[in-house]
Amino acid sequence: MEMLFSTYDLAGLPLSNRMVMAPMTRARAVNDVPDAATVTYYRQRASAGLIVSEGVPVSREGMGYLFTPGLYTEQQVAGWRLVTNAVHEAGGRIFAQLWHVGRISHVSLQEAGASPVSSVARRAENSQAYAWIVQGLAGQVPASAPRALAEDEVPRVTRDIVAAARGAITAGFDGIELHAANGYLFEQFINGELNTRLDRYGGSIANRLRFLLDTVDALAEAIGAQRVGVRISPFGRLNDMRAFDDEAQTWLTAANELSKRNLAYVHLSDQCTIGGSPVGDFLQAFRDAYRGTLIAAGGFDKPRAEQALQRGVLDLIGFGAPFIANPDLVERLANDWPLAAVDRSTLYGLHGEHGYTDYPPYAGDAA
Ligand code: PHB
Repeated sequence: MEMLFSTYDLAGLPLSNRMVMAPMTRARAVNDVPDAATVTYYRQRASAGLIVSEGVPVSREGMGYLFTPGLYTEQQVAGWRLVTNAVHEAGGRIFAQLWHVGRISHVSLQEAGASPVSSVARRAENSQAYAWIVQGLAGQVPASAPRALAEDEVPRVTRDIVAAARGAITAGFDGIELHAANGYLFEQFINGELNTRLDRYGGSIANRLRFLLDTVDALAEAIGAQRVGVRISPFGRLNDMRAFDDEAQTWLTAANELSKRNLAYVHLSDQCTIGGSPVGDFLQAFRDAYRGTLIAAGGFDKPRAEQALQRGVLDLIGFGAPFIANPDLVERLANDWPLAAVDRSTLYGLHGEHGYTDYPPYAGDAA
C-alpha cells in the first residue's frame, strides 16, 4: 500500500491522506476579503489530507501583497468562515497560514504610507512587494526601506498574531500555521547576518529565536499547541536572506526548541521551485533533531514523495503548483492519471475565475 494515500493522525486531527496543499499566494481577494470564488477554489481542493491556506496577513502592517485576504477584520473572519464550512462539508481539513511580511512590503500598502517594519532598518535588495505602482495600478515594486521595531513593540506584533489566530479559530479553521519562512518577518529576526540588534532580540541564537518562540508559546496558550504548526526554510535565500555564522546550529536549536512544544507540525519550505535554496542535505539533520510531525514542500512528484515517506524522513508531503492546476491532485496521483500544467501568467492577481477555479478535474480519455 502506498503511504501517500494512507491516513494520518495529526495531533488528534484525522487526515484522509498524507498530501498537504501547500500555502500559495493567489492575490485574488478584492478588498482583501475571501469571497465566493475563494470558497470554490478551496472546496475544489478539499480531497487534500490537509489544506494550508494561502498566506493570511495578520494585520495591515503585515501585508506585502495586494488582494491577500487577511484575518484582522470581522468581514475577513466571516469570509473565511464560508471557506472552512465548504472544505469541511467536502470532508477536508484546513489550517490558516498566518503571515507578517516584515520588510517585504511597500509604503503604498501601509497605514498612512508608513514604513514597513523589520528587525533592523535595512532594505531588502532584489525583493518585490505587490503593491500600487501608482494608485489604481497594481504591480511588482521594490520593497520599501523598513524601520526597526522597538524592543517593546515586538510583543505587540505577537499580540496581533495571536488575535489573528483567535480569528482563525472563530472562522472555523482546524488550526494555524505560523509563517516563519521565506525571508519574511520571523526570518528577518532569525538571520544573524541581517539581525544586528543589540537588545534581547539580536545577537545570540537564543535572542534571534526569541520572537519566534515567544510567539509560538503565546499561540499555543491561546488556541492549543496541537493546533499550531510552524513553517520555516532553513538555509533559504529568498527575499535577500544571506548566509550567516552558526546557520546550521541556529536551525537545529529551533528544531530542538520546537520539539519541546508538542506542536501540530513543522513545515519546511524547500525553495527549489520559488527561486531560493533547497533544504537539501540538511533535511535529515533536521529530522533527527525534530521529534514531531514533519512536512516539506517544494518540487515533489509522486515517486519522491513516496520515497520520503517510506524512509521516514517526512510524515506528510506538501504540493504547491500541482494543486493549483489539478484540483483533484490526490485522485490523479492515486490513479496515475496525467497532470495538467500550471499557467504562470494567472498565478497572481485579479484574473477572475481564470486560472483560479476553472482548472477542471481529470476527464479521462475523452478530454
Ligand atoms: C509568493 O507570493 O511568491 C510567495 C509568498 C509567500 C512565500 C513564498 C512565495 O512564502
